Amino acid sequence: MKVLMVCLGNICRSPLAEGILKHKTKKKKIYVDSAGTSSYHIGKLPDRRSIEIANKYGIDISDQRARQFSVVDFDRFDKIYAMDIHNINSIISIARNQSDRNKVDLILNEINPNSFDNIPDPYYGDGDGFQKVFNMLNEACDLIAKKL
Ligand code: 4NP
Repeated sequence: MKVLMVCLGNICRSPLAEGILKHKTKKKKIYVDSAGTSSYHIGKLPDRRSIEIANKYGIDISDQRARQFSVVDFDRFDKIYAMDIHNINSIISIARNQSDRNKVDLILNEINPNSFDNIPDPYYGDGDGFQKVFNMLNEACDLIAKKL
C-alpha cells in the first residue's frame, strides 16, 4: 500500500501528514510520501513550525524535502489524500481517467465522510495554526492507519 499526502507547498501540512502516518504505521508495510501541487518550495525543508510541532510529539520530519505532485504519482500511489479543496481540484485537473480520480480524496473525509472539510493553510498564520493542523491530521491519520 502506497499513500501520498498533498498540499500546496509541501512544506507545512503534507509533510506533517506524511510524518504522522509513517509514525502510526511503523509496524506495517506501508509506504508514505508527500508532495505539493505548486513548484514554490521544491527542494526545501519543511517549514520550521511544522518541524517543531512534529518534534513535540516525537516525530522527526527534518529529512523530508519538498517536491511537486506530477501525473506519474497516479501510477506510483494507491491512495492520494489532499489537504484542501484547492489541492484536490489541482490534482483532479491532471487526472487522466476515472481510475486516477478514484484514488483521490480529501483527508478530512476520513473523519466525516462527504463533509469536504479543509485542513486550513497555516503558512501565514501564527504558531497556533500548526497545533490545530497537527490535531486534525492526527485524528485523520489514526483512522487511516487503522484501516490500512
Ligand atoms: P502548505 O502551506 O501548502 O501546507 O505547504 C503553504 C506553504 C507555502 C505557501 C502556501 C501554503 N506559499 O504561498 O508559499
